[in-house]
Amino acid sequence: MPATRRQFLGLGAAAGLSLVAGCSGDGRPAAAPSSPGGPRLTAVPMRMDLAGREIPTWGYGTVPGPEIRLRAGDVLRVRLDNGLPEGTTVHWHGLAPPNGMDGVPGVTQAPVAPGAGFTYEFETPVAGSFMYHAHVGMQLDRGLYGPLVVEPRTEELAYDHEYTLMLDDWRDGLEGHADHGSSPPGGDPDPVDAVSFGGRAYPLLLVNGRPPDDPPVLRARPGDRLRLRVMNVAADTGFRFAVAGHRLTVTHTDGMPVEPVTVDALRLGMGERYDVLVEAAHPGGVWQVGVQAEGRGGWGRAVLRYTGSETSSAPAVAERPAELDGRLVTYPDLVSREPLAVPTGTPDREYDLELSGTQIGGQSHPDADPLPVVEGEWVRVTMRNTSAKWHPMHLHGHHFQVRTPSGRGPVKDTVAVPSRGGVVSFDFLAGNPGDWLFHCHNHHHMEDGMVRVVRYG
Ligand code: C2O
Ligand code: CU
Repeated sequence: MPATRRQFLGLGAAAGLSLVAGCSGDGRPAAAPSSPGGPRLTAVPMRMDLAGREIPTWGYGTVPGPEIRLRAGDVLRVRLDNGLPEGTTVHWHGLAPPNGMDGVPGVTQAPVAPGAGFTYEFETPVAGSFMYHAHVGMQLDRGLYGPLVVEPRTEELAYDHEYTLMLDDWRDGLEGHADHGSSPPGGDPDPVDAVSFGGRAYPLLLVNGRPPDDPPVLRARPGDRLRLRVMNVAADTGFRFAVAGHRLTVTHTDGMPVEPVTVDALRLGMGERYDVLVEAAHPGGVWQVGVQAEGRGGWGRAVLRYTGSETSSAPAVAERPAELDGRLVTYPDLVSREPLAVPTGTPDREYDLELSGTQIGGQSHPDADPLPVVEGEWVRVTMRNTSAKWHPMHLHGHHFQVRTPSGRGPVKDTVAVPSRGGVVSFDFLAGNPGDWLFHCHNHHHMEDGMVRVVRYG
């Protein structure tokens, strides 16, 4: 039963245009909204302020880039201008555009040359929390990313404030910060850990581009409901996420609705998103919104500040929300509200793929064979992870349904496969012809070739 949002605060104003660039609710600067043609993204070398330290990096003017917000059924039309010294593209992570708009260099388009531009344009029928990012080499790791929200035509959730939180890992203080993200010569220490998503030297965790000593602030009045869109855009870090003193009601994963389930903490592999509702029902000041590197010690945070607490000081950076150790959301907890129309019986095609080292099914890019599918098929992919790292596996151009005991597992586009014997299986319906990447969203693993191409034949 539809209810309307009570208010819509903290966001860039939505104008009558079908596509609006705004800011993300925590006071970050917004990029100039659109000319009637839609917003522009200009990829540039830039400087970024990390709590008083200016560091050189690459981004779309700010890190994260401007929020792109539109409504289901609108046409996304974004002009990319390349001010970088090398070619670039934009990929619309979680959306299912026609193949030529997917932004994968050498697969769906030639990279946009330095000084040149490209206009992405396609319809966005499905609402949800998505991201956009560069898809050339390690460019994404430098800060070429931003949030993309497609609102439903009729909002079913009631909430007072909405915030988008993009979680990133950062190589603070290392020599040559412009090389942020690339492995230092001689390789990184790569500790093996049962829950390790990566293990490289990313000591700093950022929330909306801000370090823990200059965190974004989420504001609430007692009794408010907050909708948080939490997105992991990191290179090498799986996150735990929790709000001290509050529980999280999960409503969506990767933008797709699930039956609400209340937990203490989220675990997000790289490329995954969760929407949660938080009842701001524990007033009394300032609360830590904590993020922790899964399997490692690093910290990041935002803070939740109640009206009237302007003079109370924020908790110490190291004050760790106990909820991080509470009940974590798992895939079997999630029951899709809008399952895919997957038939019963035997799939038309099945792939059983081992994830080992940085190979998928024993092969790595660019020498790997394509994975053929035919339009109209029901395809099942099972991944068996025999390596010591988690691999968050992302399929372009499609949503898939994770197979769980309920038979109505969550509809997602990125799924984290646990290390050392973890198995995850999903079904999708082959309905979007083209060549589509299927890859690990650990940026290093992807660069090392942990990529296959799903090819419609
Ligand atoms: Cu976030 Cu190949 O994608
Ligand atoms: Cu991986």
